Parts: sequence; structure tokens; C-alpha cells
Amino acid sequence: MKQLLLLLAAVALISCKGEEKKESLYPADTTQDEGAAPKLTPQQQLGQEIFDGKGNCYTCHKPQQKAIGPAIREIGKIYKEKKGDMVTFLKGNGEPIVDPAQYAVMKTNFYITKTFTDEELKAVEAYIYSIE
Ligand code: HEC
Repeated sequence: MKQLLLLLAAVALISCKGEEKKESLYPADTTQDEGAAPKLTPQQQLGQEIFDGKGNCYTCHKPQQKAIGPAIREIGKIYKEKKGDMVTFLKGNGEPIVDPAQYAVMKTNFYITKTFTDEELKAVEAYIYSIE
């Protein structure tokens, strides 16, 4: 069972990698045609670039579906509902409010997010909130 899970995780990671390039322009809505770019503010766009780029968040977080991590939409929804402070969380100074049982997996990313400036963290937050 454990091996099967590992295998699934590996397959998920590999297939995500392949999609990254193609989808990175349109992750908010994969049903959108090419050319119909979503209307993101410059801040949300910066957040998306970081999320899909140097943050590598996209490997675990898909816009609408749970992957290794919760869907981006789900994170945004819960943070809005609970008035969470995502910037503080991503600096490693907060408590998980979405899926505390899986916190150990998310924690491994703080070494990356701690290198982000406040502006970059706020952009990532804005991007997450833009996905509904
Ligand atoms: C290795 C997989 C993985 C990567 C890469 C990853 N995450 Fe996560 N993330 C998770 C998992 C699993 C959870 C659920 C645990 C939790 O809620 O803390 C999570 C939860 C979160 C949460 C909700 C935290 C909460 O309050 O519960 C946020 C916000 C988040 N991730 C943002 C990011 C951002 C931004 C990046 C990129 C810098 C990123 N994640 C990269 C796996 C990942």
C-alpha cells in the first residue's frame, strides 16, 4: 500500500512537471481557450509567476483539484473564511489552518518561501485569492 502511494505521488509529480509549461499561462481556468488570457492584476500575475516558477508550488497545488497539497481554490476559500494570514504562514511563523495533518509536507517549502520578499509573498497570496 505504501509503495503504491509513493508510486502515485511520483506519477503525479512527473505528470505535473509535463503540464507545467503548457498550463502555466492559464492555471486559473484550464477550460479557457488559448488567447483568452485571464484578467489578473499585475500583482496577481507576479504571484502566479512565483507560484509556477521559482516557488515550485504548482507541483503540489493545482487550481481546482486536490493534488499532493490542497487545491489553490480550497486554500483561498479557507483563508478567506477564517481570515488567515498567509504571509505570516509562508514565513514559517503561523499555524496551518487548511490541513494540519499534512503540515509536515508543506513545511518543507518554507526554506524557499522565507527567501521571498513581503511584496512577493503578498503577490502569491493575491494570486491564491484570485482563484475561485
Ligand atoms: C511538496 C508539496 C508541496 C509544495 C511544493 C507546496 N506545498 Fe503548500 N501545501 C502542501 C500540503 C500537503 C499542504 C497541506 C498542509 C497544510 O495545510 O499545511 C499545503 C498547504 C499550503 C497552504 C495552506 C496552509 C495552512 O494554513 O494550512 C498554503 C498557503 C500553501 N500550501 C502555499 C504554498 C506555496 C505558496 C507554495 C510554493 C512556495 C507551496 N505551498 C508549495 C504541499 C506543498
